[in-house]
Amino acid sequence: MAYFPPVLPLEHRVLRTARLRPRHPHHLGSNPHLGPLRPPLQRPVVAAIGAEKTAIRLSPYSDFNGMLMGDPDPTFRYLTEQLKPLGLAFLHLIEARIKGNDDAECGGDRTVAWLAELWENVSPVLLAGGFKPGSAKKAVDETFKEYDMVVVFGRYFVPIPDLVYRIKAGIPLEPYDRSKFYTPKEPKGYIDYPFGEQYLASVNVQ
Ligand SMILES: Cc1cc2nc3c(=O)[nH]c(=O)nc-3n(C[C@H](O)[C@H](O)[C@H](O)COP(=O)(O)O)c2cc1C
Repeated sequence: MAYFPPVLPLEHRVLRTARLRPRHPHHLGSNPHLGPLRPPLQRPVVAAIGAEKTAIRLSPYSDFNGMLMGDPDPTFRYLTEQLKPLGLAFLHLIEARIKGNDDAECGGDRTVAWLAELWENVSPVLLAGGFKPGSAKKAVDETFKEYDMVVVFGRYFVPIPDLVYRIKAGIPLEPYDRSKFYTPKEPKGYIDYPFGEQYLASVNVQ
């Protein structure tokens, strides 16, 4: 996983503020299509390093740190439409499946599938949020068959260093220990999980 923590929360804060405060310079107004909101950080980043090295991660239905809007869809529709012509490397969408630090179906029935469709294959879509090997395969092979779609994993990478091998080989995934995810200055729970025996045998490591 590659994160851009200084960029993405700020972007989301700009979006949320713009939506809520009528006098904010990026306010969308009652009709989001009339508002002056532009992807506030993406354009300068694209200009500085090139669109092929720039992507964005959108999580419209997460309530982490109070980021959930009352009516996120118009804002995210507008933002996605604005981002489409920029030629970004990919669009990364998150299904809301974490509440605070805990696992939860906090997005309810809401799904970001419509944003993947709206993106219209202008570049790949990376989709994360509560996937297991079976549901990931279904998403790629069936639900989003017509789309340039990659399902990505977060939490299972923490306890399973050979996750990709295990998924390919159909080896069951070990559960992760959520309580060990945030243990500052401690390797425990982050980098002390062993590789599986089958993987080690496959790469001839003693
Ligand atoms: C320990 C941990 C740290 C994370 N840190 C970030 C982060 O800094 N920025 C971010 O956008 N998402 C972060 N996430 C969310 C994950 O990237 C991912 O979206 C989420 O876990 C859903 O995918 P999953 O169901 O495969 O885990 C983090 C998740 C975990 C478990």
